Amino acid sequence: MNVPQNTDVAAGHGTGAAHTTDAARLASAASAASAAPVAVVTGASRGLGLALARALAAEGWRLVVTARHAAELSVVAAELAALTEVVAPAGSVVDDDHRERLAEAAAGLGGAGLLVNNASTLTGYDLAGAPLPRLADFPLPGLLETFEVNVLGPIALTQLLLPQLRERGGAVLNLSSDAAVEAYPGWGGYGASKAALDHASAVLAEEERELRVWAVDPGDMRTRMHQEAFPGEDISDRPLPGTVVPALLALVHDRPASGRYRAADLLPRATAEAAAGATGAAAAPETTAAPTGPAPVGGGR
Ligand SMILES: NC(=O)c1ccc[n+]([C@@H]2O[C@H](COP(=O)([O-])OP(=O)(O)OC[C@H]3O[C@@H](n4cnc5c(N)ncnc54)[C@H](OP(=O)(O)O)[C@@H]3O)[C@@H](O)[C@H]2O)c1
Repeated sequence: MNVPQNTDVAAGHGTGAAHTTDAARLASAASAASAAPVAVVTGASRGLGLALARALAAEGWRLVVTARHAAELSVVAAELAALTEVVAPAGSVVDDDHRERLAEAAAGLGGAGLLVNNASTLTGYDLAGAPLPRLADFPLPGLLETFEVNVLGPIALTQLLLPQLRERGGAVLNLSSDAAVEAYPGWGGYGASKAALDHASAVLAEEERELRVWAVDPGDMRTRMHQEAFPGEDISDRPLPGTVVPALLALVHDRPASGRYRAADLLPRATAEAAAGATGAAAAPETTAAPTGPAPVGGGR
């Protein structure tokens, strides 16, 4: 498989291992690198996607990360490349060719064991300080883009990566929202798209029983998306996205049953594990792991 030759692709380690003259250590480092698992994270240039990408990189995952704006993404790629091997093509998850590039990049790194569908839009257009539109007035092109970014793109990217994920007994982590289950005025487009993503996640879990498929409501976070939803409001009381990462890592490490989870329900367990020193090394997906740990909201397999 070919790794895309984009100018915004960064690859490599910052470990200095390649500079050693000790052939045995070189071979050992190469073998460890090729065994390291590969994750694809969309929307990784800021917010929760960036926080999770940093944590995965610190655990040794090799990464394919993406977002639309190349300048922001290249800064992130350079940072992550100091920790792990990273490929970072810029583009939109609604673009067919771009999704192909992401799948090829993952294959080029050895094959994805984890797909994180995190990239998302509130309305499919720049709100520019305006309130979220009610369904009565929702511009239809924006509604279409909302469903393309939040539902179609994630499903289409999953389709492309399924062969790689199946081979590794991997996992799909789809970022949902409480707006998928609560009826907040103004949140109808976004909420309906996240509800659709939840349902697609549940069906995928039934169809791909060797995988784990999790839909996760991360809760409110102090990010650009959240600020755009509450223009002019002080959102400094919302937790930073990094506080949610232990909950997502707990899923990746423990491989509980497929289903829908709230990060808030996972966090006490993740915190307890961290205190017990149980997290950290066991990051690689396991093909034979039985469902363990917390139960999803509404049950799961
Ligand atoms: N923040 C909250 O309070 C909250 C609450 C519930 C759920 N969530 C969910 O959590 C996830 C992360 O949200 P966040 O708050 O971290 O958002 P964010 O800070 O706005 O970051 C969104 C990321 O997605 C990228 N992105 C947006 N559209 C894209 C597209 N079409 N193709 C590729 N990348 C795209 C953005 O980069 P570019 O702009 O360069 O593309 C950015 O990297 C989302 O799924 C969101 O729905 C967030």
